Amino acid sequence: IKNIAVLTSGGDAPGMNACIRAVVRTGIYNGINMFGVLQGYQGLISNNINPMDARSVSNIIHLGGTILKTARCLEFKTDEGMALAYENMKARDIDGLVVIGGDGTFTGAKRFGEKFGIRVMGVPGTIDNDLYGSDFTLGYDTAINTVIEAIDKIRDTADSHDRLFFIEVMGRDSGCIALRSAISSGAEAVLLPEKETSLNELISMLETGASTKKTSSIVIVSEGHKDGGAYEVAKKVKERFNHYDTKVTILGHLQRGGSPSSFDRILGSRLGFAAVNELLKGNTMEMVGLRGNEVKTTSIEEALTRHTFKLESDLLEMTKVLSI
Ligand code: F6P
Repeated sequence: IKNIAVLTSGGDAPGMNACIRAVVRTGIYNGINMFGVLQGYQGLISNNINPMDARSVSNIIHLGGTILKTARCLEFKTDEGMALAYENMKARDIDGLVVIGGDGTFTGAKRFGEKFGIRVMGVPGTIDNDLYGSDFTLGYDTAINTVIEAIDKIRDTADSHDRLFFIEVMGRDSGCIALRSAISSGAEAVLLPEKETSLNELISMLETGASTKKTSSIVIVSEGHKDGGAYEVAKKVKERFNHYDTKVTILGHLQRGGSPSSFDRILGSRLGFAAVNELLKGNTMEMVGLRGNEVKTTSIEEALTRHTFKLESDLLEMTKVLSI
């Protein structure tokens, strides 16, 4: 392997820059020519591929977002798009590709690798933490910290006004952010996509709280919950339980930004370093991930299909016990 390209794709996640830095510098350290692809797969198609040197990644380890930009690229799903991407890589003799992203990114990488024999290595980069094969995905830790900072602020005003707040957090189909932020912010209840919590159950929890002198309450609603987002749930609850003045906050995209936590900087560095080393060993179609504080590989196929229920059972139980 002589030339390796790196790209970020799908939703940006804090720690991606630390990972890009590690990929580029590990490659250069090993005598590889490194390339950065702008805007994910879109950049491969539109030939937005630039050489990178050790200085191209100076002073980025602490930055959120991704210096390579990112996109959700529909054209890459077509045979024509993929063929164009391949031609552009071939013209530069690029024989290895590191993709940093989530399940959509890996689905594209798998097809691309299989079709054209490009050596592909995946790094799990998504705030959702929804890939099999890594206990934590890049950006998840920072996102939870961002979320709890916001919830702490909301608690101040909820408590001052004796209000009930419904706070919606991201995670698409995964309740990981919701569960951890609920535990770490001391939320009264959490609604997760993976778990049935009936409206009756929620209302009875809130009633018990009110009858035991809780003057305010916070309910975290994961965006993928079956009863809808925070607005819908708040409306349904309000129709039957009107003890508190009720407010709704959607945290939205602020959860994806910000300077990465130390955990995500180290995780990005470790996984970027490992991704290049795996390519140099001749491995392909794998994802590097963290399992039990060791970097391990999982086939991309498995990372995509063995997904998901990642919610720790003790945390689930604690959401009920610790919020009485
Ligand atoms: O996958 C990361 C994520 O932030 C999800 O939590 C969320 O559902 C989705 O991306 C939002 O995507 P977009 O930024 O394209 O609206």
